[in-house]
Amino acid sequence: MADLRPSILDDLGIIAAMNWFCREYQKTYSHICVEKEIDVSENDLSDSLKTAIFRVSQEAMNNIAKHGKATVVTLTLQKENGGIELAIRDNGQGFDPNTVVKGLGLSTMRERTELSGGTCSIESIKGAGTTIRCTWPLT
Ligand SMILES: Nc1ncnc2c1ncn2[C@@H]1O[C@H](COP(=O)(O)OP(=O)(O)OP(=O)(O)O)[C@@H](O)[C@H]1O
Ligand SMILES: [Mg+2]
Repeated sequence: MADLRPSILDDLGIIAAMNWFCREYQKTYSHICVEKEIDVSENDLSDSLKTAIFRVSQEAMNNIAKHGKATVVTLTLQKENGGIELAIRDNGQGFDPNTVVKGLGLSTMRERTELSGGTCSIESIKGAGTTIRCTWPLT
């Protein structure tokens, strides 16, 4: 799936790529309801930003399937305060960010976001779900 990324982003754009990914995810994890709201246009985002958004979304949603015990995932991509905001929220079991053993996923998400000029916050409470929120200033 990861290897399809460059061609699908280049050929179809971020919106179609996100729709495709969410559709596949929904098929694979039929017990999780995916709610998606994308309110940006293709021209708002540079190619590197599109790549970051797509990769972070995949990573966050894979974590939810793997660890979250969630029934609902909400993904929003919108313009917010003059920037772009990506948020992926789940209603699963959550975790304590201070004590959890970090794998590659969380640090890669943060790194990708920062390398593309944004900031990434990971909010999670044990028993109360997780929100990954990444924001980028519009240049
Ligand atoms: N959405 C989530 N819900 C509950 N727990 C989570 C969620 N996302 C991450 N975690 C917790 O944070 C830990 C670290 O996540 P991270 O993605 O960094 O590593 P991983 O998924 O364990 O391994 P990797 O991503 O390298 O395959 C996970 O092991 C899990 O305990
Ligand atoms: Mg992971």
